[in-house]
Amino acid sequence: MPPDLVIADDPTVIDYRAVQAIFEGVGWGDRGGAAYLRRAFCASQVSLFVCQKQGGDVLAFARALSDGVYYATIHDFIVAPAWQKRGIGSCLLKALLNRLAYIPTVFAPALPDSVEFYCRRGFVQRGYAVARFLNPEKERFFAELSKKTAP
Ligand SMILES: CC(C)(COP(=O)(O)OP(=O)(O)OC[C@H]1O[C@@H](n2cnc3c(N)ncnc32)[C@H](O)[C@@H]1OP(=O)(O)O)[C@@H](O)C(=O)NCCC(=O)NCCS
Repeated sequence: MPPDLVIADDPTVIDYRAVQAIFEGVGWGDRGGAAYLRRAFCASQVSLFVCQKQGGDVLAFARALSDGVYYATIHDFIVAPAWQKRGIGSCLLKALLNRLAYIPTVFAPALPDSVEFYCRRGFVQRGYAVARFLNPEKERFFAELSKKTAP
């Protein structure tokens, strides 16, 4: 991790407008806005944020949902585009997995572009993911996203 950055683990003190801007920056939409993002990150088992030591600006984040015994699933793992390919995602994934070290099975719903990233870091590609979407708009959004990022 670059020395001017730090990993923060308290989701209650984060600027979720900055988090929302990062979602928008990678084309994942506004996720309903900062208040919903705050609720989601605060309700997750582990939420980690990479921030600048000076000023506290958020550059990257990831969270995990878990039953605390058998399974955990990684969601919303994003490094802001301007900060990618500097090792930040690798450090963040390592830190997240350290927090989940006692969980035997960790899933990560990966987009086509990130499958290799995960597989180079100990994950294996297995089976097929299925999803139920309440909102057909959301279903179309994810279908488009997968097409856009397909190799
Ligand atoms: C996937 C993602 C989180 C990776 O984050 P990242 O910070 O770019 O990851 P890293 O920098 O640790 O590693 C990415 C690549 O950059 C390269 N890299 C790492 N440090 C580097 C450095 N200092 N200089 C140059 N290249 C470097 C690595 O070789 C690595 O490639 P590898 O997988 O072949 O090893 C990021 O691309 C992202 O946010 N994507 C959009 C959202 C997304 O798809 N999330 C995944 C879950 S669906």
